[in-house]
Amino acid sequence: MAGDNDLVRNRRVQYETAGLDIADVDDSPVAQWHRWHEEAAEADLVEPNAMTVATVDASGVPDARIVLAREVSDNGITFFTNFNSAKSEQLDSSSNASAVFGWLALHRQVRVVGSVERISDPESDAYFSSRPRGSQIGAWASPQSEVIESRQTLESLVTDVEARFEGREVTRPPFWGGWRIIPVRWEFWQGRPSRLHDRIQYVRSDAAWVRHRLAP
Ligand SMILES: Cc1cc2nc3c(=O)[nH]c(=O)nc-3n(C[C@H](O)[C@H](O)[C@H](O)COP(=O)(O)O)c2cc1C
Repeated sequence: MAGDNDLVRNRRVQYETAGLDIADVDDSPVAQWHRWHEEAAEADLVEPNAMTVATVDASGVPDARIVLAREVSDNGITFFTNFNSAKSEQLDSSSNASAVFGWLALHRQVRVVGSVERISDPESDAYFSSRPRGSQIGAWASPQSEVIESRQTLESLVTDVEARFEGREVTRPPFWGGWRIIPVRWEFWQGRPSRLHDRIQYVRSDAAWVRHRLAP
């Protein structure tokens, strides 16, 4: 046990990557995110669109989990999930979220904070219809975040849904769809030597984004 913690405590990676200055980043944080996402994909990072989304419940207790961003645009950052899940209940009650993309092999992190809204039904329908059939069935079958008896319980729920939709298209469950985070703040973090990292923050000011450098 003690040995395991020594390994965690003493691990140090020197970040020798090129720096990031206010003048280097795009005027638009969305364009800057796409630049870094493309570089993460080119570097063959696993799931470069994965982000950790943090929410708070009605008592202010935080919770976080990884989801996949399916759109990053001037509209916001969209991900898909079950509307009865713990995260959706938390988003319904607080209407705010924060998200983090961690591209560790590139010594990069992107953070956002913003309000959230559900995307429209036609938008959720369009994405749902593009998913593989197995994922569509899974969306119906899984009572996400609820306690279930066993793996067998889940598998028999899947069998029921498969029977229900046999020979026809799987429609979107009304309890499944997209949430959009509308950032009011973005931060791009680039690791640098001796922990003197670069942090460029964008803050929303009316229709424009104002950029600052933050101390590491
Ligand atoms: C790489 C990865 C991608 C994931 N993508 C999603 C996703 O897009 N949507 C989703 O609902 N859950 C996704 N999950 C599962 C969530 O992390 C989480 O277990 C689930 O959504 C239940 O969270 P909740 O109980 O806080 O609502 C993903 C997990 C991992 C590790």
